[in-house]
Amino acid sequence: MPRRISDDIISKICDENDIIDYVSGYVQLKKSGRDYSGLCPFHNEKTPSFHVSQEKQLFHCFGCGASGNLVQFVMKTENLDFVDALKLLADRAGIIIPEDGDNFSDKNHEKKKKILAMNKYAARFFYDCLKDNGAGEKGRAYFAQRHIPMKTVTVYGLGYAPNGRDLLIKHLTSKGFSVDEIVEGGLAVSRDGRIYDKFRDRVMFPIIDVRGNVIGFGGRIMNDNKDVNGFKIPKYLNSPETLVFDKGKNLFSLNLAKNAKSSEIILCEGYMDVISVYQAGIKNIVATLGTAITEQQAKLMLRYASEILICYDSDEAGTKAAIRAIDIINNVGGRARVIRLKNAKDPDEFINKNGIEKFRETVKKAMPATEFKISLIKNQYDITDTEGKILFIDEVVNVFTKLKDAVEIDAYITKVAEDTGINRDAILSKYREKTSKNTYRKIPAKNEYQKKAEQRKRNNVKEFKATGSLIEAEKRLIGLISQSKKLYKITSLSMQPEDFSTDVYRRLAKMIFDSYKEDVSPDPAMMLNDFHGDDISEASEVFYNLEIYSGDEATVKELLHTIKLEKLDIRINTETNVSILTELFQEREKMLSEKNTWEE
Ligand code: GTP
Ligand code: MN
Repeated sequence: MPRRISDDIISKICDENDIIDYVSGYVQLKKSGRDYSGLCPFHNEKTPSFHVSQEKQLFHCFGCGASGNLVQFVMKTENLDFVDALKLLADRAGIIIPEDGDNFSDKNHEKKKKILAMNKYAARFFYDCLKDNGAGEKGRAYFAQRHIPMKTVTVYGLGYAPNGRDLLIKHLTSKGFSVDEIVEGGLAVSRDGRIYDKFRDRVMFPIIDVRGNVIGFGGRIMNDNKDVNGFKIPKYLNSPETLVFDKGKNLFSLNLAKNAKSSEIILCEGYMDVISVYQAGIKNIVATLGTAITEQQAKLMLRYASEILICYDSDEAGTKAAIRAIDIINNVGGRARVIRLKNAKDPDEFINKNGIEKFRETVKKAMPATEFKISLIKNQYDITDTEGKILFIDEVVNVFTKLKDAVEIDAYITKVAEDTGINRDAILSKYREKTSKNTYRKIPAKNEYQKKAEQRKRNNVKEFKATGSLIEAEKRLIGLISQSKKLYKITSLSMQPEDFSTDVYRRLAKMIFDSYKEDVSPDPAMMLNDFHGDDISEASEVFYNLEIYSGDEATVKELLHTIKLEKLDIRINTETNVSILTELFQEREKMLSEKNTWEE
C-alpha cells in the first residue's frame, strides 16, 4: 500500500501522542522499573506481562509477544489500517494531515474539524435531551416501545431532538459556532429567510466513522402516521452531505462491527435492524445510510471481513436491492451470501418475533449469491413446462456470465442440467455463446488459492537455517547499535546489513546504518512503521529488550564473534567436502583462540 502521508507528518504525529497516555485508556499501567506494566489487552492473563516504555515509545508483551509502537497499538486495538490509525492519532493531537496535491486542503481540514466538533456537541445535546426528565420522555417511551434499553442507548449514543425551532442552534451558538457554520454542518436549514433546527421532535441515531468521529445523524419520527398539512413527513431524515459526511462512503455501526473481528459482516438496510441485532449479541452488523450500497462501501466492509452476508428486507424492493448488492460486492472482488428472513419484514421484526437464536440459525443458512439468484429466476418460470425451461435457462446463463470461477460455473451448469433435465452440453454451449459475445472479458481476479500458493512459494525461498543463538546475538547487536553510533561503527567494520539472518533484521540494520550515514540517530518507533503483520513483533522485540541488554564495546565484540562462530558452525554442519571441512575446522580453532586472547 503506498503511504501518502509524509515521514515528517508521521514523526510529528508520533511525537505529539504519548504512548503511556494513550495506552492508559486501555490498560491500567503501573510504573515498574524503567517501564510501565499492566495486564495485556491482547491475551488473557492474571499477572501483568505487558510492558510499555515511555522512553522508546514502544509496547511489548512478554506473555503473548505482541509488540510495536503506538500506531501499531492503535491498529491492533481499533482494528484499523496504518493510515486510519495515524489519522486517529492526528485527530487526537489536533494535527492536520495535508492531502497531496490539494492546495486548499488546509482550509477544508479546519472546516472539517469544526464540523466534527460541532457534531460531537450535537450528539451530546441529543443524548442529554433524551435523558431529560421533561423533554426526553417521548423519546425514551419510543425506544422502550421498540425494546431498546438505556444500555443500548448509551452504546450507540442515541438521543432525542426536542421539538423547537432552534434549540440546537442556540446550544451550538453558545459553544461558539456561528449560524453559517451550523447550516454548513447540516444541523440547521434555512427556509424563507428563517433558520431552523434540521432535526425536530425525532429520535436520533448518530453515525460514527471507524475512527470514532460523529460524521452525521439519522433522525426518526415517533409516530409513523404523522403528516403535516396533509403531507406525509419522511420517516427518517438523514444529515445532508457535508464536508465530513458522504453517505456512499460510510456505514452505520461499522465502528462497532469492526471490533467483532469476524470474517463475515452482515449488511442490512435499517439503523433499527443493526441495533436490535447488535444488542442481542451479534455485533458484526452494519447498515447503509438510507441509500443503495456503493462499491466504496463494499470495499470498506471487505477491509474488515472476507464475506458479506446481505440481510435486506424480505419484500420485493429488498430482494432487488440484494441482487444489486451482490453485483457490487462481486465487482470489487468480494464474496456475498444472502440471508433470507421468513415471516418477518426485516431483522428487527424477525428478532422481536422469533428471538436471537432463530436469527443465528437463519444466518448460518445464508445462501451463496449465485444460488440465490437462480432461485429467484426459478420462481418466475414453470420449469416443468418446455417453454418455461427455455426461458429459465436463458436467464440463468446470464447469471453465469458474471461468474469468474470456472469450477463454480461448471458446478452450477451441472445443477441446472439436473434440475431441468436439459443436457448439460446444451447449457454449456449457450453459456459459451453468450460469453463470446462479450467483446471484453474481465480478467478474473486472483482467487484466494492462487494468492495462497504464491505466498507459500515466496515463504519457501529457503535461506540457511539460523540457530536460536545466532538470532539472539543478532537481535542484541541491532538493539545495541541502534543506541550508539560508536557501537555501530565497530559493527560496520565487520558486518553489513545484508549479513543478518532474517529479512526483518536486514531491513532494520539497513535503516540504522542509513540513519547514521546521514548523521541522525535512529528512531525505533519510527522505523517500526515500515513493518507489517508478524514482522512488527520481530522488529519491535529488538528494541524492547535494550535495558536488559545494555552493553558496551566488549559486548559488541563478543556478539560479533558469536555471530561469526555460529555461522561457521552452520557451514560445518552442512558441508560434505572433507578438505573444505578441514579448513573450516581450522578457522574455528583460530577464532576460539583469538577470543581467548582478547578475553584475558
Ligand atoms: P423502522 O421503521 O424504524 O424499523 O426502520 P426501518 O429501518 O425498518 O425502515 P425501512 O426499512 O423503511 O428503511 C430502511 C432505511 O432506509 C432506514 O434505516 C433509513 O436509513 C432509510 N429510510 C427509510 N425511510 C426513509 C425516509 O423517509 N427518508 C430517508 N431519507 N431515508 C429513509
Ligand atoms: Mn424496521
